[in-house]
Amino acid sequence: MISVHQLTKRYPLKNRTLTVLNNASFSISEGETLGLVGESGSGKSTLGKCLLHLEPPSSGSIVYKGRALDTFSKKELFDFRKEAQVIFQDPYASLNPRMTAADLIAEPLRIHRTHTEQEIPKTLHTLLDLVGLPSTSLGRFPHEFSGGQRQRIGIARALALKPRFLVCDEPISALDVSVQAQIVNLLKGLQKELGLTYLFIAHDLAMVKYLSDRVAVLYLGHIVEIAPAEELYNTPQHPYTQALLASIPVPDPLIERSRPKPALHGEIPQIASPGCPFACRCPHATDLCRTTPPPLVQLTPTHQVSCHLKP
Ligand SMILES: Nc1ncnc2c1ncn2[C@@H]1O[C@H](COP(=O)(O)OP(=O)(O)OP(=O)(O)O)[C@@H](O)[C@H]1O
Ligand code: SF4
Ligand SMILES: [Mg+2]
Repeated sequence: MISVHQLTKRYPLKNRTLTVLNNASFSISEGETLGLVGESGSGKSTLGKCLLHLEPPSSGSIVYKGRALDTFSKKELFDFRKEAQVIFQDPYASLNPRMTAADLIAEPLRIHRTHTEQEIPKTLHTLLDLVGLPSTSLGRFPHEFSGGQRQRIGIARALALKPRFLVCDEPISALDVSVQAQIVNLLKGLQKELGLTYLFIAHDLAMVKYLSDRVAVLYLGHIVEIAPAEELYNTPQHPYTQALLASIPVPDPLIERSRPKPALHGEIPQIASPGCPFACRCPHATDLCRTTPPPLVQLTPTHQVSCHLKP
């Protein structure tokens, strides 16, 4: 459905250029969920914005249903904005506090003029039903809802234009743990019911595994590994993925004690190194790693990794 080819995104700063995404390439099939994990600042949201054409790439291209986004006409882009939507991390920040739930959910319908005023109430009820909110919600304001309910409004808003592709940018990280599973299950159910395609961005690796068909690991704007979720979690190949997975707490104390712990040393470097982006934190780094960037190689037809030690 959507594919990314050698996507690079740079931001000019005062005295240097910040490369936020570096030659990222991958694709997402129709009906699939691609999970995207990585530390804060690794470029996850920027990648999401580029896919939605909210940020122009510095180089590389994004192909949606067989055509490059940067060749779309104004009319085609207008239609693309209906098909590709986003669910944000913090529904409180993304919902106008002075608008009722009815106006918030109907706003996309009015902007895109897909419905007459007479048709809107019926659609609002259908959308509320889809996201599990009572119809009494319509006249209420964002502050009158709980965090989980506000995220349901955000989801209803995103679904209003019948999108095909959704970027879910950490949709549960601002929520109480007790409601996170409810929202994830809602997203999973909606995907099945409506045949949606997701890019699911998250910090929580366990949640990403539960929801994703495949997972891409981003480090400093580089995709360092991409594989089917089970395979990535059972046999992670990149030292960074191994360190990320080792940092997930295991409930059984015996397993916790017996498990080898590849530590994630040091901070994310501020200046890009000429070699492997992970070299200054990697326990296996060699001179080659510090000078030459490793290519992303195909280990199996579905598993790619970028590390000089592989294959
Ligand atoms: N408009 C911008 N101008 C300059 N730098 C930017 C801009 N947007 C993002 N950045 C920088 O790009 C890097 C990646 O940001 P991004 O928001 O994509 O990371 P992220 O992985 O989503 O992080 P988080 O997990 O904290 O949401 C950060 O260093 C950020 O400061
Ligand atoms: S290329 Fe070298 S530094 Fe980079 S992850 Fe592999 S072993 Fe570590
Ligand atoms: Mg982000």
